[in-house]
Amino acid sequence: MALIYTNENNPATLKLLIAKNVSKAPVNLKIVHVNDRSIPQPRRLPCVEEEENLTLFLPNSAVCYFNPVKENTSEVLDWLEWEAKNLSPCLAYLCGSSVKNPSFKKTLQTYLTKLECSLKDKVYLIGNTFSNADIVIWSTLYPLYLNEALRKEYLLLPNIIKWIEHCETIPQFKEAVAFFKIDGKTAYAALAAGAKYLPIPDLTSSEGTSEESGSPQHTVEVVSEEELKSAKAAWSKDVTKLPKLKQRNGKVLPVSKEKNIFITSALPYVNNVPHLGNIIGCVLSADVFARFCRLCNYNTLYLCGTDEYGTATETKALEEKLTCREICDKYFKIHNEIYQWFNISFDHFGRTSNPEQSELCQEMFLRLNENGFMFTQSVEQLHCPKCDRYLADRFVEGGCPHLGCNYEDARGDQCDGCGKLVNAVELKNPRCKVCGSRPKLKTSNQFFIDLPKLEPLLHHWMKLSTPGWSNNAQVISKSWLKEGLKPRCITRDLKWGVPVPLDDYRNKVFYVWFDAPIGYMSICKAYTKDFEKWWRPSKDVEVKLYQFMAKDNVPFHGVLFPAMLLGANRGYTTVSHLMATEYLNYEDGKFSKSRGVGVFGNDAQSTGIPSDVWRFYLLYIRPESQDSSFSWNDLVTKNNSELLNNLGNFVNRYAPIILCDFLSPSLRLAFIGPHISSRLFTLNGFYDYLHWR
Ligand code: 2FM
Ligand code: ZN
Repeated sequence: MALIYTNENNPATLKLLIAKNVSKAPVNLKIVHVNDRSIPQPRRLPCVEEEENLTLFLPNSAVCYFNPVKENTSEVLDWLEWEAKNLSPCLAYLCGSSVKNPSFKKTLQTYLTKLECSLKDKVYLIGNTFSNADIVIWSTLYPLYLNEALRKEYLLLPNIIKWIEHCETIPQFKEAVAFFKIDGKTAYAALAAGAKYLPIPDLTSSEGTSEESGSPQHTVEVVSEEELKSAKAAWSKDVTKLPKLKQRNGKVLPVSKEKNIFITSALPYVNNVPHLGNIIGCVLSADVFARFCRLCNYNTLYLCGTDEYGTATETKALEEKLTCREICDKYFKIHNEIYQWFNISFDHFGRTSNPEQSELCQEMFLRLNENGFMFTQSVEQLHCPKCDRYLADRFVEGGCPHLGCNYEDARGDQCDGCGKLVNAVELKNPRCKVCGSRPKLKTSNQFFIDLPKLEPLLHHWMKLSTPGWSNNAQVISKSWLKEGLKPRCITRDLKWGVPVPLDDYRNKVFYVWFDAPIGYMSICKAYTKDFEKWWRPSKDVEVKLYQFMAKDNVPFHGVLFPAMLLGANRGYTTVSHLMATEYLNYEDGKFSKSRGVGVFGNDAQSTGIPSDVWRFYLLYIRPESQDSSFSWNDLVTKNNSELLNNLGNFVNRYAPIILCDFLSPSLRLAFIGPHISSRLFTLNGFYDYLHWR
């Protein structure tokens, strides 16, 4: 039996009860407090728990679930969407959100006028009997009607009043109201409390201001004559006459006089399951670009893999009581499977704990040392007497040493509060991350890369290389250079890592950010023995390297790694396009594995929503020039409006050939499939609408 969770006086509950009265579905009602932990994820009220693993948290979706739309589908769906996207949010914002905007009032009046005109000479919004359109809009407006003051201010519109009063007498409506009492004075407080989850109504669109009558109109963007012409020309070409796509036989290698595109995604650490932010920031962005390049018939190599050394792994191993090797094996598999599910088209997904990594990393170090870009220095390091270990990087936490930043949990290598790099010994009140005790200073000799000496080379290179980088990548890297580079310690007294290949240092390993970018080379070498064709191409071959990542990785790819490559002086390929994204937030906060907040790769998989729908939505909200947010509501809205309604309709009506030839099987399923997400995704029942005809 379905169970409706709601808080008292929540107007959106009425529509669920009316719909279930129509279908006579057996339903229980559970009144809870908004903070009740028993509310199924994502903890929105009202929601319907239908059976294990099926929760409907969008009220209009649940209405369609109880009472499937059969007639006048598209009109009903338009009204449902209008109610969810415009009317409800407008009322919610107007009645109590912190976003105060005088135009909400005017907008509401415009909406109501539109409704008033649509009800002219009609008993119901559409046809001769009430539909889901009446159910959802009536439920939303009923509290307004019950509140005398608000009614006077907004609702003195005769057709609407007549319609509200008529619906009030319909048995299914009446019964719902009797069952779930609504108080007109406070009803919108519940709606307002959820306002932060609702889209801010678009006050500028024609829907908000148009005086037209009838159901909501969709805006049409103007297409230029030129665009039309070129679209026509492309359309009229016979698909079969398009150049044939290159068959990939064997390993992809660069070829003289052709476009050779080498693409990488930042190599993820093996201490977590990737979340949606990781997926869009690195692999999905790169994947789309790789697919595009392959369609253009460029020689395209797309590589990624796990970044397995460093304290992130050691910390995780301690936490899970496994060896570092076991942690790497476990998380390599998890990452690999998640990316496969997301259909990421790597040519190879490798790992940095391969033998090629040690070989190339040691070679790079020796080369830089020979060329005079390394020096040793005795350094003070934090050592935890209780754990008997040096507390490099992530093993130590404390107050950020940078002026003005009072972040208390800065790590030994970087502060998440201000983003700046940190020297572990400078942390205020340092504490061992494992046992919490205060570490002591001890000295030992370490290698440093002489970045100040490499600065002139880097300056020159940057001038030539940065024009193709994303804006944030340019800004971050240039600001690093502007501040002046400092030598950076690249060895550590740890066991898990690539050993330093020199006597007296053999018990040390390389710092993870020295070895990690070499992972791009070693993974390439694991892919093909001819890896140098990509990394040290001959004069007549041009390789363009595109590296995708989130913005926190920029300093290492825009400064440190290029400095290493330039200092090695072996004609290595350096990045020509450093593409960095901003951060993706979750709803109104940050993704956090430890707090269990967010959607992780395996969660996305278990929703039953096809990966192509995820791919579409993540790309839609890609945090290109500013941070963006994942929102469940928005996922459904964009799926319904942009993917299914716009693209889906276009494909369905005009281009069946595209549907057959172009879309991947799962996207086809998203359009025409009768099941999976149909229940979850029928905010407006687009599935019925889009049935393959
Ligand atoms: O931030 C991270 O997850 C790092 N493991 C990225 C490394 S990218 C490359 F240099 F290996
Ligand atoms: Zn300790």
